[in-house]
Amino acid sequence: MIWNELKKPFLILAPMEGVTDIAFRQVIAAAGRPDLFFTEFTNVSSYASEAGRHNALERLRIAPTDSPIIAQIWGKNPEHFAIVAEALESLGFSGIDLNFGCPDKNVNKTGGGAAMIKTPELAVECFRNAKKSTNLPVSVKTRLGWAKTDEFKTWLPTLLAEHPAALTVHLRTKKEMSKVPAHYELIPEIITLRDKISPETKLIINGDIKNRAEALALHEKYPEVDGFMIGRGVFQNPYCFTDHVATREELMNLLELHLDLYEKYLKNTSFEPLKHFFKIYINNFPGASDFRAKLMETHSIKEAREVISLFQKPIDN
Ligand SMILES: Cc1cc2nc3c(=O)[nH]c(=O)nc-3n(C[C@H](O)[C@H](O)[C@H](O)COP(=O)(O)O)c2cc1C
Repeated sequence: MIWNELKKPFLILAPMEGVTDIAFRQVIAAAGRPDLFFTEFTNVSSYASEAGRHNALERLRIAPTDSPIIAQIWGKNPEHFAIVAEALESLGFSGIDLNFGCPDKNVNKTGGGAAMIKTPELAVECFRNAKKSTNLPVSVKTRLGWAKTDEFKTWLPTLLAEHPAALTVHLRTKKEMSKVPAHYELIPEIITLRDKISPETKLIINGDIKNRAEALALHEKYPEVDGFMIGRGVFQNPYCFTDHVATREELMNLLELHLDLYEKYLKNTSFEPLKHFFKIYINNFPGASDFRAKLMETHSIKEAREVISLFQKPIDN
């Protein structure tokens, strides 16, 4: 069981829709891999429908360097959780994670993501349906509550009573989005709940942790926490799972790798989302903003490569 194989404190790349796809995960693996990857979230009802299955399976593609990797799913239809949990077993995943924390309006409107906090009985039914349909370990990622931080005092026990293999807590409410600092001060109380209700559940803390050093510092303070999940930290430093300080050349190599992988796996999708990543690689050196501005004007991988080769050309004297 993957969760028992990971050495404490383990580090995880957070699931991020539109970011942690099959191409970007391989970029992070090349820079310095976390102990565990998660996929972006996939909707259970898309997978369960004829029309949506192809697209759902595209999102669930994994590469050899992804392993071990957890498939994250969301939705609100308990039968569909069962269908997907059963199907995921043969797709190479080490576990299944249920998203009960996404604050996106469109997701919440359908009753999924963080809206599950407001329908705990339905959340439990979805969890049980997933668990009974697979031999893979089932975990949950959630927030402290919907509107108030102290909702965690009833919400987390509801989840822990189901004995998830792991519980990731993003230390904010849905209403707080990412606008306030993560509530690290609540970690001791969350540890106590876990220890009392489900000591075998791995506890993972998430929110504002930028890199390995920060995760290790938190672990010093809270040694009972099993793992730490880093999301937006990768935008500041794709080497954030290591102590390595990247050179400009290494970052350029990662950008070129990203273009290659995008071409290999995602060339049938739009080029535009790829532009969100350029800032990760081209940052903090003289001329970086001009370079980036030129890249932002491109419309294809071929054009992006042309801009890169122009900027990398040695200067003739
Ligand atoms: C662009 C973006 C997409 C996200 N998509 C997901 C997702 O698909 N599933 C999920 O559980 N959380 C998602 N999240 C939330 C992150 O996993 C994480 O909980 C949040 O960013 C807080 O961690 P951080 O402060 O380390 O970034 C997303 C966050 C961002 C910024």
